[in-house]
Amino acid sequence: MSQGQQSNKPWGGRFTSPTNAFVEEFTASVTFDQRLAQCDIRGSLAHARMLSECSVLSEAEFATIAAGLERVGQRIDQGQFEWSIALEDVHMNIERALVDDIGEVGKKLHTARSRNDQVATDIRLYLRDEVDSLRRQLDALLTALVDLAEREADTLMPGYTHLQAAQPISFGHHMLAWLEMVLRDSARLADCRKRINVLPLGAGALAGTTFPINRQRVAELLDFDLVAENSLDAVSDRDFAIEFTAAASLIMVHYSRMAEELVLWNSQAFAFIDIDDAFCTGSSMMPQKKNPDVPELVRGKTGRVTGNLMTLLMLMKAQPLAYNKDNQEDKEPLFDTLDTLEACTRAFAELVPTLNVRRERMRAAAAEGFIAATDLADHLVRLGLPFRDAHAVVGEAVQLAVQRDCPLEALSLEDFKSFDARLDESIFDVLDMDNALNARDHFGGTAPAQVRAACVRARKRISELLV
Ligand code: ARG
Repeated sequence: MSQGQQSNKPWGGRFTSPTNAFVEEFTASVTFDQRLAQCDIRGSLAHARMLSECSVLSEAEFATIAAGLERVGQRIDQGQFEWSIALEDVHMNIERALVDDIGEVGKKLHTARSRNDQVATDIRLYLRDEVDSLRRQLDALLTALVDLAEREADTLMPGYTHLQAAQPISFGHHMLAWLEMVLRDSARLADCRKRINVLPLGAGALAGTTFPINRQRVAELLDFDLVAENSLDAVSDRDFAIEFTAAASLIMVHYSRMAEELVLWNSQAFAFIDIDDAFCTGSSMMPQKKNPDVPELVRGKTGRVTGNLMTLLMLMKAQPLAYNKDNQEDKEPLFDTLDTLEACTRAFAELVPTLNVRRERMRAAAAEGFIAATDLADHLVRLGLPFRDAHAVVGEAVQLAVQRDCPLEALSLEDFKSFDARLDESIFDVLDMDNALNARDHFGGTAPAQVRAACVRARKRISELLV
């Protein structure tokens, strides 16, 4: 036996001295890539079946390998598998376990394959499944949002620009704005899934293989839509993972905006909503506190996902073709992104249905904000004034109301007539907040009737997302 084989590495043949213990740890990935184990086994089963169909393995060899892989998979599932750092990664751990289980024939599994095309296949399989489950989770959030929007279609609140009360909106309309962001997020994931679902296997280490393989067959067995066209590209690029993390970053940016609004609305200053006790925690010092920790954490976790995107972009930058060990660094940021996104989506999907909406507080805040000022200007336009002049007239009216510290509708008809003689008592209807809300009555507008119609469309769009 050569010294290399004594080193107990699957690749030990050309080595004469054992790996430095620190280097062994430094180069190992098994502590984190063991998450890929079941995908690795699925990939190996498809590979071995194809090899037997192409007569590279005999049918009996395939049957033995398949049975052995199933057993290894079960042991891993049941937590009865001992992962070894000395065996570096998930692939070599599983291969060694297979050989220990079925003997010499297990060593044939790696025919016509490299860990380079193997790991690229594993990550794609894994990410594809995760994207599918994430999209189902997003569906739950979308349904929670449309339910809430429908329930609160008639709830009037101040809409803001620059965080200054601007115009009256329906709280349901606001929820539907969140829904639009998440609908696009889900569609973005569906689109990025197309580029994930391409089979690298068969690319070998970089240049393919000398065996007569059938890559289409492996793609069919593993439900890949396409076979990677170029072997060098197939083993080296991780753009699909970067693209997913970019989509995930956008989701987190959307979540952080929702989180920020939840925190604001839940504050004493706004008091527009109560976040349920089940989603808050207290202070160890201040007995009165009920803190909105869940949305705060979601907001805070946005940083790790966008950070992961930068990590992956920088990991890929300037790598020469084809595979480099750099790529082993793709897994932790990707897994962290998945875990974070799943946790945050779950948190929101469960929190949204429990929101207590304080309708009277929203109305009171709207009443304080000269919220129908635009409506008065629009009214003057209908009376024949150019919009710019109407804007100036209402500006003066607002100035007077500010001086008197009263709402616009508390000014007298005489006051209004002094600004423009055409004004009559119908302006008080115009200044009514509910009329102002109902007047925005067109596709995409905030009138409660429009919000209800948008909810119906939203339900249909959600149901079409996952087909
Ligand atoms: N653990 C490695 C990774 O994650 C598997 C591929 C290793 N290939 C190699 N030639 N060293 O990328």
